[in-house]
Amino acid sequence: MSAAPKANPPIRTLLGPGPSPVNPRVLEALALPVVGHLDPKFLEIMDQSMAMLREVFQTQNRLALPMSGTGSAGMETCFVNLVEPGDAVLIGVNGVFGTRMVDVAQRCGAQVDTVEAEWGAAIDAQKFKATLEKKKYKLAALVHAETSTGVLQPLDDIAKLVHESGALLLVDAVTSLGGAPVRVDELGIDACYSGTQKCLGCPPGLSPITFSERAVEVVRRRKTKVQSWYLDLSMIEKYWGSERVYHHTAPISMNYGLHEALRLVLEEGLDKAWQRHRQVHEVFVREMRKLELEPAVAESIRAPMINAVKIPEGVDDPKIRQRLYDDFNIEIGAGLGPLKGKIWRVGLMGHGARMEKSRSRASERNEDRGSRRDDRYLRSSILDPRRPDSSIQPRDPLAIAIKR
Ligand SMILES: Cc1ncc(COP(=O)(O)O)c(C=O)c1O
Repeated sequence: MSAAPKANPPIRTLLGPGPSPVNPRVLEALALPVVGHLDPKFLEIMDQSMAMLREVFQTQNRLALPMSGTGSAGMETCFVNLVEPGDAVLIGVNGVFGTRMVDVAQRCGAQVDTVEAEWGAAIDAQKFKATLEKKKYKLAALVHAETSTGVLQPLDDIAKLVHESGALLLVDAVTSLGGAPVRVDELGIDACYSGTQKCLGCPPGLSPITFSERAVEVVRRRKTKVQSWYLDLSMIEKYWGSERVYHHTAPISMNYGLHEALRLVLEEGLDKAWQRHRQVHEVFVREMRKLELEPAVAESIRAPMINAVKIPEGVDDPKIRQRLYDDFNIEIGAGLGPLKGKIWRVGLMGHGARMEKSRSRASERNEDRGSRRDDRYLRSSILDPRRPDSSIQPRDPLAIAIKR
């Protein structure tokens, strides 16, 4: 076979559930010279990334590192290391990612019980308490920002209940980390995982995780071998720790990308990054309402970085999303499962959570992409937050797509 033509992906404004727009500084970092995975300079970068991850996770945990692989690798890492066959596990399920946790835990041989909530609602702490009281669980797990529904799960009450029960607390922070507080130490989260491609503004490819000493002890005292060789933390921590024992070849370039992304978050300041996500979300909701569009999630539990929007009656969902692609190079997400055709999911994450004017046609950007590199990633909002009046203007992509 002859070689395929060179890949030439379009420049999209990524306003879906992830990946989110990548900061140009991160893209530059991805192109840095590749060195060996035991090169002293790379080891330095690894140490710095671990220190920065501790800050972003708000933890003093020794074990904080990026697993090779996407967010699902982080999810599997937590379950395969903490769960042995027969262990009782309780999982909150109110969307795709709680459902995925159940699947992963069952594959580890766990006896899984669930506390369920409607997709679009939060897991109820009292229901969780009632279930925790029925049985001794080894581990309880929750999704912080459920990307499939746009719900930000309140964690404080459930975290307290889980600790009182003696179980380990596992939290999925794939979508929330960097965009909302993930207070690992304050809440006593024992295991937490995230992904690079959401509020950290990096491409997909690594999954930052952190384990408390209590969780590390559980891994140490396992009776059975971790069923995944690749995700076995007892070996991986020997590479990331002082021993530097080879386990697998670290994805060097992705680690450069994450390093720069973490630098960006900490240069801005975590508080400011959370505030920015909140502000952009509030502007989005305000402007969305001017178009007679309504949020699908109750205000108190809305995840700022992933906005679920009710699709108005009679509006052709796939057609609108296609128009946003074709005419504006904008990606938004469709609803999943029971929410298919009922909501759009608009991600305002990481480098995409900024107040920038939306320009008329992203295709223009594609035409002159060579000459305006910095401008390529600047268009973050479907709804122009600085629009001088509330009328629908032809510049407003979602308005145009719906009205046409
Ligand atoms: C909340 C949540 N958990 C887990 C995942 C899985 O991450 P990945 O698709 O990067 O493997 C995602 C991905 O969107 C997510 O949003």
